[in-house]
Amino acid sequence: MKNLIVANWKMNPISKKEAEDIFEWIKKGAKGASAEVVVCPPFVYLSELEGLTLGAQDCFWEEKGTYTGEVSTVMLKDLGVKYVIIGHSERRKYFEETDETVNKKLKAVLDAGLNPILCVGENAEQKEAGKTEEVIRGELEAGLAGVVDLGENFTVAYEPIWAISSGDPYKTKELPTAEKVGKIHSYIRSLLAEMYGQKNADKVRIIYGGSSNAGNAKDYLENAKVQGFLVGGASLRPDDFSQIVEAAK
Ligand code: PGA
Repeated sequence: MKNLIVANWKMNPISKKEAEDIFEWIKKGAKGASAEVVVCPPFVYLSELEGLTLGAQDCFWEEKGTYTGEVSTVMLKDLGVKYVIIGHSERRKYFEETDETVNKKLKAVLDAGLNPILCVGENAEQKEAGKTEEVIRGELEAGLAGVVDLGENFTVAYEPIWAISSGDPYKTKELPTAEKVGKIHSYIRSLLAEMYGQKNADKVRIIYGGSSNAGNAKDYLENAKVQGFLVGGASLRPDDFSQIVEAAK
């Protein structure tokens, strides 16, 4: 299975010109890469960018209708989008995303034949209280409630919220060790095996997100055996991002 490197641009950059420039750089860096590279720009740039696999940062669960401001999986599919990030912690924090809405979105993504990237992870308080595993179990079970089949290309992104950068991945004070990430990834795999059987669980890609950058990607790949990254801040820095792609070959 190929490693998966996902650029999550969040609400950046602020012009189409910059989006095109960064995209072209990423494209150059991804040439000949053995990892699969996916770019998730803001919705408004999706139809402007061509030449790499595209993903969306969110979606709505209904196909169409009176839902002002929303974008459906059918629309995304029509544009050629292949991946959708679901349940990112920033959506849970700022936009009242709940386990229930995550579950509805996840089902809509699977129904549309798109590939979900389901985000799970604990915040600082939960980590301090020793509740990391409990939180992850809760988010996985609730997010996947009623989902019978994970499809052929399901990804779980483990993103400890306390390690997510505020834009500069080199400024984050504390990051999980590769050992810790490796343990959590195995835990996620074991939960999926409980729910869907070992064979199906083994088909799921489990990736890491949280200040991943050119300096730490290799460590996580080699010592935590992550199968890729969900990259925020460093995905807007073409050099950094290319080095992550290169490390994930
Ligand atoms: P970061 O963001 O790499 O800037 O920490 C990751 C994410 O939130 O997906």
